[in-house]
Amino acid sequence: MKILMVGQGGREHSLLWKLAQSSRKPLLYAAPGNAGMAHIATCINIGVTEISSLADFAAAEKIDLTLVGPELPLTLGIVNEFEARGLKTFGASREAAIIEGSKRFAKDLMRKYKIPTAEYEVFDTPHQARIYLEKVGSPIVVKADGLAAGKGVMVCSTLDEAQDAVTRIMEERVFGEAGALVVIEECLTGEEASFLAFTDGKTVVPMASSQDHKPIFDNDQGPNTGGMGAYSPAPVVTEAVHRKIMERIMFPAVRGMAAEGRPYKGVLYAGLMIKGGEPKVLEFNARFGDPEAQPLVVRMASDLIPILEAVIAERLHEIDIQWRPEPAVCVVMASGGYPGPHEKGKLISGLDEAANVPGVVVFHAGTALRNGKVVTDGGRVINVTGIGKDVREAIAVAYQGVKKIYWEGVHYRTDIGKKALDRVS
Ligand code: AMP
Ligand code: GLY
Repeated sequence: MKILMVGQGGREHSLLWKLAQSSRKPLLYAAPGNAGMAHIATCINIGVTEISSLADFAAAEKIDLTLVGPELPLTLGIVNEFEARGLKTFGASREAAIIEGSKRFAKDLMRKYKIPTAEYEVFDTPHQARIYLEKVGSPIVVKADGLAAGKGVMVCSTLDEAQDAVTRIMEERVFGEAGALVVIEECLTGEEASFLAFTDGKTVVPMASSQDHKPIFDNDQGPNTGGMGAYSPAPVVTEAVHRKIMERIMFPAVRGMAAEGRPYKGVLYAGLMIKGGEPKVLEFNARFGDPEAQPLVVRMASDLIPILEAVIAERLHEIDIQWRPEPAVCVVMASGGYPGPHEKGKLISGLDEAANVPGVVVFHAGTALRNGKVVTDGGRVINVTGIGKDVREAIAVAYQGVKKIYWEGVHYRTDIGKKALDRVS
């Protein structure tokens, strides 16, 4: 069996690592992949948005199954294109991925199907947006409607910041056309969690809960990033909260998408704010989280291939996913300067030593091979994932791995998993 993974981040390396362990012994390909993925897959130099080239490759190579990691190709319709060519593909269609691609769409869906979320209004002119801001005051959240590589959300503590956010998004167009509309919404407080589920459009099979750490510095200080670390499970998602998430959020969202003529197949990811045991949706994503996927796949005891196949064939009701009870913690190691400008090409040392720490799995994100050596090639570079008998041990294992790895300017948070530890201890 031949499987193609589309993507090049830590999420994609972790999914590929999981596929490599299948008893089906698949032959793996990655496009474009990274230095870590190159150990277990043949890397093909085609970018994630070069959809017809990717489909040409998959057809010529007789790929049996394609798994799409990032949101951009999903919103551009990679699954539609592959399916039109008779290629089996795991991921949301263009029509379904709009749940992530347009925040206005997602908010209107939630309003229509009574899914709990922050109050909001949508504006297509800066003038109207400003009048509304004057009326509602701060704190307030200003969001670009379209995709902005995880940077299009501005949580504003003052009115000046909010007005400035409107200027940057709508007038300066710092996120391009993604800023043609803004969503202005109520600022929620509480604890965040990520809730991911597989769905074939009818059945919803939840994954274990997880939690991301978005800001760049310890204690959630500094600008937001794509995610600086994650752990699973998230103790804030108790059994009661889990039930509410399924009943009030996941089922209504999947049923709502079907009712809108946008059947949803793939991974549905709800980013949640939980306060007093009540979950509200911050956003929906149409894919696995990065870095949430890393601790999740390390904990997933079931084979991933039958799950992907069941989603595609719309027989997910036959599937039961087993999870290892031990918690897992993933620490993201990033280039100095990230999420701002950062240098590339720094030589990375200690990768093998880290991988030899019992319980550690080292996933690559922004890495490349230069003259046979692994160098940095992006903002988030290496994701060290540790598993342990409890969260304290998982944290210790992950950081033992982290300490072995070095490059000039490396930055990582030292408090990944602390929130989980505070809740369970
Ligand atoms: P999103 O890309 O929508 O997940 O937003 C990125 C981050 O912004 C979230 O993880 C939250 O930390 C924060 N955020 C988004 N929406 C809100 C909101 N309504 N209230 C408070 N924080 C928010
Ligand atoms: N970790 C946040 C995301 O994948 O969107």
